[in-house]
Amino acid sequence: MTNSVAEIKRVRVPDLQSRKQRGEKIAMLTAYDYTMARLFDRAEIDVLLVGDSLGMVVLGYETTLPVTLDAMVHHTRAVSRGAQRALVVADMPFLTYQTSVEDALRNAGRLVQEGGAAAVKIEGAGAAVEAATRIVEAGIPVMGHLGLLPQSVHQLGGYRQQARSGEDAEQLLADARALEAAGVFAIVLESIPESVAATVTADLEIPTIGIGAGPHCDGQVLVCYDMLGLSGEDAPPFVKLYADLGARTVAAAQAYAEDVRANRFPAVRRTEAELAVKAK
Ligand code: KIV
Repeated sequence: MTNSVAEIKRVRVPDLQSRKQRGEKIAMLTAYDYTMARLFDRAEIDVLLVGDSLGMVVLGYETTLPVTLDAMVHHTRAVSRGAQRALVVADMPFLTYQTSVEDALRNAGRLVQEGGAAAVKIEGAGAAVEAATRIVEAGIPVMGHLGLLPQSVHQLGGYRQQARSGEDAEQLLADARALEAAGVFAIVLESIPESVAATVTADLEIPTIGIGAGPHCDGQVLVCYDMLGLSGEDAPPFVKLYADLGARTVAAAQAYAEDVRANRFPAVRRTEAELAVKAK
């Protein structure tokens, strides 16, 4: 049953921490437009991430690197208009927070002020920890992102699992602790062994949200195009297909084209003159 606007209780940043304390899992999906945000809100998805995966699944780039802040603001605004319940988190795209903490703060501010996001997400630790500290100090909630960092794809040498060695796993745990100390409210763990995700999740007070990181995280996130079957061969192997909208969309478009070519659509309708004669 659909709730009326008055009944809808918005998911807020502190709710996620309470979920972790109560042992309740958090469901997060990416969204890039108003219509999808409305549908996911009806499905009671807790967090909608306007991911910079936008660049790949919506805009057709090979990586997330060409995504601009203007594009993120534009799509975040659309998602914010569609989401009445979910917490809307916007990705800060490549080079919008790595250049200086001032840039980071100004750019995070745009995603909140112009895009209507409730929080922003940044990738990595190191310099990102400084940026997170400053953004959080300004009152903007920050989500961290560790493991496979798509904005560092060239440095990582591809989209492959991270934190496989003991040393790398320890570094990831140290990075997660540094982000927690900086005040981030949750951390996405992407493409790491499930044992590493379990250790980090048990160590932190804040929730972890996994993607390709096994079942022990406090929540899960998927790129919506992947789980809806719209990414075809490009979906990573850990994705569960919850619908095959790709095949259904092709079939619907084919049926429409056949109808148009066979003159079955639009159906022949009586003209207004014919209807007027019949009414007499
Ligand atoms: O951009 C994105 O979609 C993401 C998810 C993979 C977590 O960062």
